[in-house]
Amino acid sequence: MQKQSATFLLVLCLSFASEAREALTDEQQLGKLLFEDKNLSLNRNQSCASCHSLNPVQQQNAFLNLVPGFVDPENVKKGSPVSSGSLLHRNGILNAPSVGYAAFSPLFHWDEEEGLYVGGQFWNGRASNLIEQAKGPFLNADEMAMPSEWSVVSRLKENKEYRKLFWQIYRLNLATAPYISHKNNKQLIAKKPAAVTEIYHHMAKAIGAFEQSPVFNKFNSKFDYVLAGKTKFTPIEEKGFALFNDEKKGNCAACHISEASRDEDGNIIPPVFTDFTYDNIGLPRNVNIPNNPRQEQPNSGLGGRTDIAALDAEGYETGKHKVMSLRNIALTPPYGHNGVFATLEQIVHFYNTRDTLGWVSDNQEPGFAKSGWPAPEIDQNVNHDELGNLGLTPDEEKAIVAFMKTLTDDYPKWGRDRLVPSGTPSPFPEVKPPVQ
Ligand code: HEC
Ligand code: HEC
Repeated sequence: MQKQSATFLLVLCLSFASEAREALTDEQQLGKLLFEDKNLSLNRNQSCASCHSLNPVQQQNAFLNLVPGFVDPENVKKGSPVSSGSLLHRNGILNAPSVGYAAFSPLFHWDEEEGLYVGGQFWNGRASNLIEQAKGPFLNADEMAMPSEWSVVSRLKENKEYRKLFWQIYRLNLATAPYISHKNNKQLIAKKPAAVTEIYHHMAKAIGAFEQSPVFNKFNSKFDYVLAGKTKFTPIEEKGFALFNDEKKGNCAACHISEASRDEDGNIIPPVFTDFTYDNIGLPRNVNIPNNPRQEQPNSGLGGRTDIAALDAEGYETGKHKVMSLRNIALTPPYGHNGVFATLEQIVHFYNTRDTLGWVSDNQEPGFAKSGWPAPEIDQNVNHDELGNLGLTPDEEKAIVAFMKTLTDDYPKWGRDRLVPSGTPSPFPEVKPPVQ
């Protein structure tokens, strides 16, 4: 009896500790409200969370229903590569990446030593940080489709809670900010008052702060508890991790960094499984993307940005997309910037056999991923040095997939591991993304 109540107390303390970690600052709370607010889209039918869901993703694998992947649940459920916008029949041409751990991407910059671009947000890094990123989707015609910053600010004005919080946190007065109808008046919009720019910026800042919170950066996957010495990999996960790291085998860690680092005080910073650089891994075109007349002109990633193209006469950056974090990757199909791969098994098979399997014309062919791969969407700058012909056996491919499944957060909830019972806090509660 006594033992039981002690256990009960322990569990209670542990769940309290994990909840404390999830506690949000006032600014992050505001960011959460904004992130989930559909009123900030043209037809009041879409929020950031529509495409980067905070709710658990519906998976076939029942226990994983407990964990959010911060992607579009429609993509996961139906395997659709892209998301619908606020307007009917509008969609973009890129797969929504997870917002999980995006806060760890450094500011977009040129690394002199390595001679390459690093960091930023989006598949092509065009937003330098989370704040600049968050200013985009509201005004993107394929996403939330609002006509102007001013019209977004006018929607903010409607909300009593926002009026209170913007004043409390930023001393910005929404009540006296000028109003404009969402019905586009170009002449008027051109005269955007300074107050609008400032409020819009702080709205994005609050969203960025929320994305830096533990909600998106939990560090409580099985991998983290193994790193902290609290539990062990199964033999197949262990084998997969070794292959992932082995330069002569999977070589995944060459780009998806798997080694922990340390801060100035010597505390462990677990890896987020990306070095935030850009590469062309030779993705085939995805002919399943709807409304995509531009299929013949595929998304050229980093090199497709006018600012980069102006500096890159030789086209060295063409076809390169950002190395994405692999944390929670089991929850976020489909894979790649155009969502051409339906499963982790497929993308690992692609890394292994891209250059050896054979050829099929496109990804609607029944032989896709079985008897062949289509040609790369962009054949300039395809990486042949580090991937494409890895010589892995089918068992080795399976092991790498098994390892990647240890990167799913909330392991105490789904792992059924008596060494890490439900409610166990993250072993790395102090690790926080850099302030932007
Ligand atoms: C209609 C679906 C949709 C909506 C709504 C949406 N996003 Fe996205 N998000 C995407 C897609 C698609 C991309 C990739 C686009 C690209 O790279 O050009 C993306 C990229 C991102 C990224 C970059 C992640 C990384 O690692 O590079 C962040 C952060 C993000 N979105 C946050 C937000 C926020 C904040 C909002 C609300 C203000 C929002 N998104 C609204 C679909 C959406
Ligand atoms: C040379 C660098 C490099 C190496 C080596 C590498 N990757 Fe990647 N990885 C990338 C890039 C770049 C992307 C995004 C490419 C795109 O979408 O065009 C990516 C994307 C992925 C994705 C999909 C991410 C998402 O959010 O959709 C997975 C899964 C993945 N890699 C797993 C692996 C595995 C497993 C290995 C080893 C077998 C590996 N990678 C080796 C650079 C690399």
